[in-house]
Amino acid sequence: MKHFADHFVVTKSAARQRTECAILGIYEKGPLSHAASDIDIKLGGTLSRLIKNGDVRGKLGETLLIADLKHAPCQRAIVVGLGSRDAFGRKHYRKALTAATAVLVKTGAREAINYLSLETVRDADAYFSGRATAEVIANALYRIPDLKTAKKPPAPALKRVGVAAANRSDKSALDRGLAHGQGVSTGMALMRDLANLPANICTPTYLANAARSLARDHRSIRVKILGEPEIRKLKMGALLAVTQGSAEPARLIVAEYRGDPNNSAPVALVGKGVTFDTGGISLKPPPAMDEMKFDMSGAASVLGAMVAVAELKLPINLVVIVPSCENMPSSRAVKPGDIVKTMSGQTVEILNTDAEGRLILCDALTYARRFKPSVVIDVATLTGACVVALGNHLSGLFSNDDSLADDLFEAGQRADDRAWRMPVMEEYGEQLKSNFADFANVAGREGGAITAACYLAKFTKDLKWAHLDVAGTAYQSGAKKS
Ligand code: BES
Ligand code: MN
Ligand code: ZN
Repeated sequence: MKHFADHFVVTKSAARQRTECAILGIYEKGPLSHAASDIDIKLGGTLSRLIKNGDVRGKLGETLLIADLKHAPCQRAIVVGLGSRDAFGRKHYRKALTAATAVLVKTGAREAINYLSLETVRDADAYFSGRATAEVIANALYRIPDLKTAKKPPAPALKRVGVAAANRSDKSALDRGLAHGQGVSTGMALMRDLANLPANICTPTYLANAARSLARDHRSIRVKILGEPEIRKLKMGALLAVTQGSAEPARLIVAEYRGDPNNSAPVALVGKGVTFDTGGISLKPPPAMDEMKFDMSGAASVLGAMVAVAELKLPINLVVIVPSCENMPSSRAVKPGDIVKTMSGQTVEILNTDAEGRLILCDALTYARRFKPSVVIDVATLTGACVVALGNHLSGLFSNDDSLADDLFEAGQRADDRAWRMPVMEEYGEQLKSNFADFANVAGREGGAITAACYLAKFTKDLKWAHLDVAGTAYQSGAKKS
């Protein structure tokens, strides 16, 4: 279930702007923020006294709800700590606003105004304030599509969220940021819904139907679903090998967005859609195997990206390709040592059936060539080794093209969803040697994220290609699992 708030920009000062709830920042050991001091005057010094009495200290993310205000134009205020003023940056802005929003959605306020946007945020501009506001609010309103049978808590009352402009000239950047944040959030909600569903519901067929429904919602999107007979006709021997152990039929999802009437070459996004990864005959150990329902996060994120692009009506052409199947052990499953022929014609010795992501991706990357794309970017929960290398904070970024790598790196910085470039070099690729086929699908433990990328690179020669390994960043484990 998705609900989104509407957004608007306000230019009046907090002292003169009516609202059901004002979000006001205070710095640790520092001054009140602009808006907090405006409201403080209206209230005859209440906020200053709260600070003096030690009831709020301005620690980053600390909140205090002051409800039923009589002498201010805001009915309620949520006072939120911003931490030290000198350090106040993008992360602090998001964290403070997230904390304030968590309080906000529990109140009866139907409308609120974020005044944190009046503060100076290091390395950020008005566009950032607007975009982060829309994203943080949408995130707070997101509900996991859980299957709990107990009565659901009531939906938040919040319907409209304003963001304050420091001056009139900031208004258009704020509006743009809000619109972009809203579009991105719509795509993210789809991504999260799909990723969070269990594998008995979110099968390749379910993913294909989800893609079809995008075409129903957006006239700019066309979707084609290929079943196993068509996949066989395309000679996608690697994808067929992975799916052959499963009773669930595989799908190849092809979604096209047309936003550029000039027929320019499309951007191709390829997402790993393994709806459950047991490891196959190279079976994974039981702990946390449930998390392998998230092994279609790459697929979910490229479908989500297409929604964001369509919502924002970007003037580009885009093609999204999702190879989707399960990776299961069975009497018909592919076995270590089996050799298959990929769509590219190159042969692969499957030494480890748990390295299945690269097998389905290589055929999808070969298929992408028929669209003559300007760039091809694949997104995949590809290797545990990437999590060892970069942890959960950054995605692995691999590319055979420096300017594409730079663009993706910069985009990650702007979106606060960062990636770190890793090498794709022949030395690593040589580790994939096989005595029986053109190469093997695994190359030993060392540099596992890199050798996986080198495997993919064998299928993307002469393409401008990048690979994002999101194994560490696509989902959260433990109590925060989602
Ligand atoms: N889906 C996994 C990678 C993964 C691991 C994602 C942990 C998220 C968290 C992938 O299919 C896989 O099993 N990779 C193997 C590759 C190995 C056999 C070369 C891995 O990382 O262990
Ligand atoms: Mn695997
Ligand atoms: Zn996998």
